Amino acid sequence: MSVSLQTQHDAAPGAAQSFAHLRAGGVSLLLDTSGERLPRVLHWGADLGDVGPAEVAELVLASVVPVVSGTPDAPYALTLLPEQSAGWLATPGVTGSRDGAAWSTAFRVTGTTLNGPLTRDDGTPVAHRLVVTAADPDAGLLLTLVVEQYPSGLVRTRSTLTNAADDVFTVAGLDTALPVPAEADEVLDWTGRHLRERSAQRHVFTAGTHLRESRRARSHDGTLLLTAGRSGFGHGSGEVWGVHVGWSGNTRTYAEQEMPSGARVLGGGELLLSGEVRLDAGESYSSPWLYASYGDGLDELSHRVHTYLRSRPQHPTSPRKTLINVWEAVYFDHDLPRLTALADAAAAVGIERYVLDDGWFKGRRDDTAGLGDWYVDKDVWPDGLHPLADHVTGLGMEFGLWFEPEMVNPDSDLAREHPEWILRTGRRLPPSARNQQVLDLANRGAWDHVFGRMDAILTEYPIAFVKWDHNRDLIEAGHQATGRPGVHGQTLAAYQLIDSLRAAHPDVEFESCSGGGGRADLGILERTDRIWASDCIDALERQVIEAGTGMIVPPEMMGSHIGSTHAHTTGRTHELSFRGATAFFGHLGVEWDLTRASEDDLTGLAAWIGAYKEHRGLLHTGKVVRADHPDAALRVHGVVADDRSAGIFAVVQLTTGVFAPPGRVRLPGLDPARTYEVRPLAPGDDIAPWEGTWAPAWWKDGARLSGRTLGVVGLQVPNQFPERSVLLDVRSAPEV
Ligand code: DGJ
Repeated sequence: MSVSLQTQHDAAPGAAQSFAHLRAGGVSLLLDTSGERLPRVLHWGADLGDVGPAEVAELVLASVVPVVSGTPDAPYALTLLPEQSAGWLATPGVTGSRDGAAWSTAFRVTGTTLNGPLTRDDGTPVAHRLVVTAADPDAGLLLTLVVEQYPSGLVRTRSTLTNAADDVFTVAGLDTALPVPAEADEVLDWTGRHLRERSAQRHVFTAGTHLRESRRARSHDGTLLLTAGRSGFGHGSGEVWGVHVGWSGNTRTYAEQEMPSGARVLGGGELLLSGEVRLDAGESYSSPWLYASYGDGLDELSHRVHTYLRSRPQHPTSPRKTLINVWEAVYFDHDLPRLTALADAAAAVGIERYVLDDGWFKGRRDDTAGLGDWYVDKDVWPDGLHPLADHVTGLGMEFGLWFEPEMVNPDSDLAREHPEWILRTGRRLPPSARNQQVLDLANRGAWDHVFGRMDAILTEYPIAFVKWDHNRDLIEAGHQATGRPGVHGQTLAAYQLIDSLRAAHPDVEFESCSGGGGRADLGILERTDRIWASDCIDALERQVIEAGTGMIVPPEMMGSHIGSTHAHTTGRTHELSFRGATAFFGHLGVEWDLTRASEDDLTGLAAWIGAYKEHRGLLHTGKVVRADHPDAALRVHGVVADDRSAGIFAVVQLTTGVFAPPGRVRLPGLDPARTYEVRPLAPGDDIAPWEGTWAPAWWKDGARLSGRTLGVVGLQVPNQFPERSVLLDVRSAPEV
């Protein structure tokens, strides 16, 4: 990976020409830092190579926007934090005011430093860090703008605004924006809902603002990633740029085209509610990080995010343990003999971790009561959780436990004792959702209480894994004491709660769940080991949900379960081969009442678990690739080892195809110069559900082809029933 730093950077504001060229991992971010204005992006995208000061000066000149009629007399400058005072007449970076005054900024740079390579406080390597300080004396504001580039090429940026005057400054927004070129004329982002997260939507990059907001502090619908690229861009090719707001509260992410210039930006930040952030003299507000990734194709863009995540010291690197989660097996029916029988069945098929889901604590017999009362229910568990936890660990499995720390049922001792700990507006409670309300964690008493209870349970029991759930939107979520909106404070307090519990229990892994994939952003991923991608375990739905979630979340962090034969949330029936082949490409788990599974199913499941254990090393460190197959009925995706010595691919028949057989499919991402042997990978090699299906000619003895041939020509694959999948094992082999 190339990391190079262009050091010709003159930190003196006002110097004739200064620039910062952040280059790493095949990506250049070239910033014009001359003059007193905030930095302007001259280029963000493919690596420009070694660009000297003379060429930068020419590029600056070549990039000045000619003035046209009907516009201000001077050309606009698009600064990283866009400003009207610099002529940018679309979304400004800072919104807010001092009781109506100081509502528009004109920052002047007071200092610029460029460092790198360096390491972050948590030990993550950073290729370059640019820090720009600026002041706007008229508005009474100070600004610190940080831009970091990671060795993978991923860029992230955030701003901190400080009130340097005596009266209150109310921050309404603090957004950063990065320009994308005219070639980026198509927008792709994701939407969704509970049970159907991450549906892709594409449209032309039009004039105005395509704004994706999350006003509910989670994001079944909010986009994980907002991209713009050259029309028709796919996974393997076509330049594409994308941004993501790494924040688990309210967010705004936008693609905007300014008129009349047609200049395009991708930007975002936290969505602040009215009056939510009020800065007294000397107080500061920091925006969340805006992550920005570029690629020739979505796979490259996404790989830069995965590589960044993998470079963090806290990234889960131990083999990702297969787990059973008891939710869809028993729901709230907690019964020790039933749960121990399930543990026996799980251990027998090779499962390594057992997670007791919702329903274990006081008064929690269904979803109407008990949330907040984090004491083991004595009626259901007279001896505490010890008999089950001991049984589980005695079988050689780890024990995991479900919590929903930020929530409370009005029907709970906690809500009865502390109604003042519930987020609300005025005297009315927010509309109820799943019979629950949100606990105000920014209230110190509430935070201490939840920390104390969780800490006690994590101390008493041998818990190796916490599933951290969050099952409702934040609606009208205000602090009772101040009457002000509380989502910002709640998000910080929830982060602090996870961080403190992790510090107190460093060996415990944490999963982020929010009614499935409602909270899967890079803010929560900084402090958790796994995301529960959806409450929908139907393998067909999961093919789509995980493709979208996987744009940000690498396979080892994406919880993916083999459910029962009949999917509980869709009513579909799927063979184990399809359920197994789908869960195989994430952090594999099982969510199925194995005490009722047939012997054949248990044997088959053991084979899937065995194969996952054998291949998880590759699956959880390699590059995720997706073929741009023209037939929407067919999906081909895989993971290729970092050194490209091997890969595992899935050929998935989503629906019936128009063509039978489907024809040759390409296997992307392999080393063109190497020869590989391709073979069906058991147990994903079962292809004959009916008599009219024949295996391709190479199926029995394998095919030996170069990476180039596999990527450019491809090979025939079996004609499959819909909602089935086969796996291919691709290994480098001696030349033919
Ligand atoms: C929603 C989660 O996504 C499910 O997996 C389960 O944990 C339930 N909550 C429990 O209430």
